[in-house]
Amino acid sequence: MNELQKELCLGLKKFCRDTIEPHMEEDDHDGKFRMDIFQGLGKYGVTGVTLPEEFGGAGLSCIDYVYVLEEIAKVSVPYAVTISVSSMVQSILNEYGTQEQKQKYLPALTSGEEIGAFALSESHAGSDAAGLKTTAKKTEGGYLLNGSKMWITSGGIAKTYIVMARTGGEGAKGVSAFILRDGDIGFTYGKKEKKMGWKTSPTRELIFENCFVPEGNLLLSEGRGFTVAMGGLDRGRVAIGAIGVGCSQRALDESIKYALSRQQFKQCIFDFQGLQFMLSDMATETEASRLLVHAAAKSIDAKNTNSKLCSMAKLKATDTAMSVTTDAVQVLGGVGYTSEYPVERFMRDAKVLQIVEGTNQIQRVVIARHLKKENEHHA
Ligand code: CAA
Repeated sequence: MNELQKELCLGLKKFCRDTIEPHMEEDDHDGKFRMDIFQGLGKYGVTGVTLPEEFGGAGLSCIDYVYVLEEIAKVSVPYAVTISVSSMVQSILNEYGTQEQKQKYLPALTSGEEIGAFALSESHAGSDAAGLKTTAKKTEGGYLLNGSKMWITSGGIAKTYIVMARTGGEGAKGVSAFILRDGDIGFTYGKKEKKMGWKTSPTRELIFENCFVPEGNLLLSEGRGFTVAMGGLDRGRVAIGAIGVGCSQRALDESIKYALSRQQFKQCIFDFQGLQFMLSDMATETEASRLLVHAAAKSIDAKNTNSKLCSMAKLKATDTAMSVTTDAVQVLGGVGYTSEYPVERFMRDAKVLQIVEGTNQIQRVVIARHLKKENEHHA
């Protein structure tokens, strides 16, 4: 960590401990998202970390960004996820948007005044995203959208949505990407999901019924929406990996603290070799995940995004988050299973990290495709 990163993380740690932590248990129980907390993170400067200063971003690197997400996730996985999805929307606008689109939509997102959401999945098109059925039919001055989107993180609390819809024939080449706004006529929300974890982050269905989207809200050109989505997801997957690392680190910290203070058989349980092996494995896996997330982030900073590394980082860090949080509950035993300690919440929050932004099975598909391509000369 360089000096700037140390300073950033130290201040952020205090902010999260003082502002977010006191609400987490109650808000997890009530499923309550606090816009004032999100806007507070915005004032702190972490809702648009990598975006250029020209559009209100902090102009920092992707490595700085993954440190930020790790720090927030140590206190709240849902708030870290809200930032990561909103940041993915910003990266998409910054990379594929026109100057006009960037000026219009980015400042409110980078400042944290508003939240962004990403709408690709549909009830029958999750892993097979190119099978999406929402249509966008050309009409005078724009498009009419019809269909629905499922499992949308920040659905209902976000103001700007990147929505993928079909303008052409079947498959990836028939997909286009649009910018929609909360309140657009014909755009409503369906049911709010009841979930195992991420309870403070709302997940909702989006419904489009003859929803008019002006031509100026198309990203790039017709038929390039799948590339927009996949490019956004490369960065998104690294961010989800970073959140996994924060989740693992918190579970490990809680486990060590508890193992040092808990006495059984006249000694602290940390001194039992069985527990030492467990804690050592948890620490090693967490550090290995962090290094992989950093390797992927470095490729983004070098403007040479390595999709294989992005998928590896997401896969490793989120599988690790699941195993480390599960082991943390085991280390704490009976109390670990209660809401008296935060480890059970982190275990519930870890599970969906293995599912969102491409299941970990899809990450393996992406990695295998790269391995095949890299080794075609052997065939
Ligand atoms: N960057 C840019 N373009 C890419 C790309 C990438 N990383 N990966 C693929 N593409 C392009 C390809 O080049 C191709 O275009 P060309 O034909 O012009 O070359 C086009 O996209 C289609 O690619 P594929 O042939 O590989 O497409 P596929 O149908 O075989 O699907 C897949 C590939 C990897 C399985 C993909 O469908 C996928 O990632 N599925 C998972 C979906 C997903 O991650 N959903 C996440 C939902 S969002 C979410 O969870 C956010 C949240 O709210 C938390």
